[in-house]
Amino acid sequence: MRLLDKLFGKKRAELTPDLVSEIRRSFEESAADEEHFPSTIDPRIYHVKLIVDTFGDLSNKRALDLGCGKGRFARILKEHNPAAQIVAMDLAVAMLGYADRNLDRVAASMLDLPFASSSFDAAYATESLEHAVDIERAVGEMCRVVKPGGRIVVIDKNAAHWGRLKTPQWERWFGAGELKGLLARHCRQVDCRPVSYWEDVEPDGLFLAWTAVK
Ligand SMILES: C[S@@+](CC[C@H](N)C(=O)[O-])C[C@H]1O[C@@H](n2cnc3c(N)ncnc32)[C@H](O)[C@@H]1O
Repeated sequence: MRLLDKLFGKKRAELTPDLVSEIRRSFEESAADEEHFPSTIDPRIYHVKLIVDTFGDLSNKRALDLGCGKGRFARILKEHNPAAQIVAMDLAVAMLGYADRNLDRVAASMLDLPFASSSFDAAYATESLEHAVDIERAVGEMCRVVKPGGRIVVIDKNAAHWGRLKTPQWERWFGAGELKGLLARHCRQVDCRPVSYWEDVEPDGLFLAWTAVK
């Protein structure tokens, strides 16, 4: 079973109403845990730079952070792009309570986005798609709301490193090809590469960054 888990990022959980409630409750409670769910991030961390650099100038444009948590990435994106509308969206209202007031905060599920199709210039998800359970649907929703030509970034953990961290039973990590395949159903220029924390440090392989153009 461990080998299969390693190959597939874990046995797949089924998205029942009970599981949806459990995930929401878990993250509502976790919002108080600043150590494991921090509200800030060092802007020099390469995960942040990758998103800021991939999107470029977002002036008068609209970007969506799916599963934003406390909005630590969205805050920095807004600092770089004061004239952009940054929508910080999360399942857990308690997480959104920590997000900056100059972000547009929306409580919703990435499985059923309350946004019109083609209404964003950019969308990204950092360590949140791994909690979506129905990954195919979440990727479909993320791509649906992005305009043709808009950019998408996903940063998440690599299934090849499954077991390195303690995870809740619903969490999934992804093989590079798995998410590339899902993104390629809706996008072009789909790419995946390992991403390190710091620009001058070799990636250790735990995190992968997927990029795509709608
Ligand atoms: C590990 S945290 C990451 C938060 C943030 N992206 C960051 O990097 O700081 C995962 C977040 O995903 C959110 N989440 C989990 N399932 C979700 C869903 N179906 N829709 C929207 N958000 C979800 C959780 O509430 C939690 O805030």
